[in-house]
Amino acid sequence: MVKKVEKVFMRIKPEQLQIRLATIADLPMITEIYNEAVRNGVATFDTEEKSLEDRLIWFNNHDAQHPVLVAYYEQALCGWASLNRWSDRSAYDGTAEVSIYVHQEYRDRGVGSILFPALIAEAKKVGLHYLLSRITQGNELSIRLHERNGFTTIGVMHEVGFKFGKFLDVTLMEQVFNK
Ligand SMILES: CC(C)(COP(=O)(O)OP(=O)(O)OC[C@H]1O[C@@H](n2cnc3c(N)ncnc32)[C@H](O)[C@@H]1OP(=O)(O)O)[C@@H](O)C(=O)NCCC(=O)NCCS
Repeated sequence: MVKKVEKVFMRIKPEQLQIRLATIADLPMITEIYNEAVRNGVATFDTEEKSLEDRLIWFNNHDAQHPVLVAYYEQALCGWASLNRWSDRSAYDGTAEVSIYVHQEYRDRGVGSILFPALIAEAKKVGLHYLLSRITQGNELSIRLHERNGFTTIGVMHEVGFKFGKFLDVTLMEQVFNK
């Protein structure tokens, strides 16, 4: 009972979160949040931490049609989300892959539930047609977040990744706009 009261108290409301396009000044925190996920989880199949220089290259690969969003709570960058170019072959120009990472200390407080719809709205705004997401097995929370935001499951790639001594499945989810 005490836990429930605490969780309600801790929940961040949409009006308390500032969401905007990321700038280079946000990169150190974006990198820190990403590297925590590299070290401690299987959401990303990177197994080595990324340097700031690596992330600068990643950031510069994003453009107006493939934005990176950041979420701030009380002046702290607590999460980021991005629309990543899926392929440089031009028939795929309307397609992007989504990413979302919430700072460890801010998880389960509603940040992802606020930031993810903002990313989807941005995808519609910039005229993307198709969104793809690859979700590692066991990340039911992320699958639910995607389902709530219009994604459906396409299928499962079995044992396609290997991290922390284990083969891992990946669920592919998609969302097609204007269908
Ligand atoms: C997945 C992630 C983005 C979700 O963001 P979040 O801010 O933690 O999620 P929210 O607090 O908005 O919660 C989303 C839902 O999951 C539930 N939830 C959150 N954390 C949970 C936990 N530890 N256990 C059970 N349920 C949980 C919430 O109750 C909420 O459900 P509801 O809206 O029905 O109440 C975040 O946990 C994260 O960054 N994880 C690591 C990276 C990752 O997995 N990225 C996605 C890759 S596909």
